[in-house]
Amino acid sequence: METEILSPTSEHIAVAAAALRQGQLVAMPTETVYGLAGNGLDEQAVASIFAAKERPRFDPLILHLPAGVTLEELQGWLVDVSAFTPTARAWLGSLIDTFWPGPLTLVLPKCPTVPDLVSSGLPTVALRVPAHPVAQALLQAVQTPLAAPSANRFGRISPTSAQAVAAELGGRIPYILDGGACAVGLESTVLKLSPEGIPTLLRPGGIPLEALEAHLGLPIHLAPEQAPGVPEAPGRLSSHYAPGKPLWLLPTAFAQLQPGDWQQIQHLATGHSHLGILSFAADPQALLNHLSRHWPGVLFSVECLGSDPNTAARALFASLRRLDEGDATLLLAEPPPLSTGLGYAMMDRLRRASSLWNPPLSWPS
Ligand code: TXA
Ligand code: MG
Repeated sequence: METEILSPTSEHIAVAAAALRQGQLVAMPTETVYGLAGNGLDEQAVASIFAAKERPRFDPLILHLPAGVTLEELQGWLVDVSAFTPTARAWLGSLIDTFWPGPLTLVLPKCPTVPDLVSSGLPTVALRVPAHPVAQALLQAVQTPLAAPSANRFGRISPTSAQAVAAELGGRIPYILDGGACAVGLESTVLKLSPEGIPTLLRPGGIPLEALEAHLGLPIHLAPEQAPGVPEAPGRLSSHYAPGKPLWLLPTAFAQLQPGDWQQIQHLATGHSHLGILSFAADPQALLNHLSRHWPGVLFSVECLGSDPNTAARALFASLRRLDEGDATLLLAEPPPLSTGLGYAMMDRLRRASSLWNPPLSWPS
């Protein structure tokens, strides 16, 4: 199959919407990452999403909805919150009013309208209203919820540009709508709300955890890490978002590494003469000088994200992807400078991206 990258004109949106109505798949831009969209109420279209991504069927999908949708419209159609306490219902309503459209996914008890394949047999469904105008135009044109996981092959780096989608799924889908680079760059925050009003964070993401806690006025618990095979949110599988090359997550930024740390890393990296570096430093040249002084005779490809969390998040996946596609044979990533907000979400992604490879490093955790 040939994959066409379409500019988001109204004609092309109509073409994409027609394809979706016929059960085909379209990659669409959202403010977080690109999604691989299919008709979320058509079991066959949903099955082809799993096939195109090579995604195991135990990993449920998010349904994307048009802006302005209300809890009353969702009730009895997609979700069943009739067992929610009045407080839980009020919180849910106010989360929707405050954070939609935007990078917040809500996990709620589902109605039978939602195919079991979408929710991987769970009694809940994940819903979100994307803020990207192209995703919204497409949703308006198709008039059906769109199931859309990130438009990457399973377990790999999420795409934040149309070109990255083409690299992941080219030849497997007919259309990619090109909405430019994603503004947030990390997937949505996934929050489950129980009928009693107990919130659980299933995946940190574009809406900072602290913003949700401040809004609800209570602490939000993190779902425990899931064993593969029975995940409640397989974004929480320990290996995910992974490049094809080994990636090691460092204990601190290069500027703070102690002599003993340098020795350990250099020893472990013996045999690698070209390293890819993902850093939160601001100045690539200064970092390169620092690295070359400590590590003579090695070539470096450096991606500097800078310390501003919004800017860094926007660039994170594209930088990882460039390093993965480049000539380095081993990738080293610094931890984000801030451990809250988007820093927390970036750390989550880097931990998972590196989890297959980290065993050789023995940092105190
Ligand atoms: O920002 C995003 O959320 C992007 C864009 C395209 O909207 N989508 C995305 O989808 O990241 P995906 O499929 O890559 O991640 C969906 C996450 C997974 O971790 C999945 O396990 C979780 O949402 N999820 C979906 N339905 C769930 C459910 N019923 N219960 C618990 N977790 C669920
Ligand atoms: Mg994903």
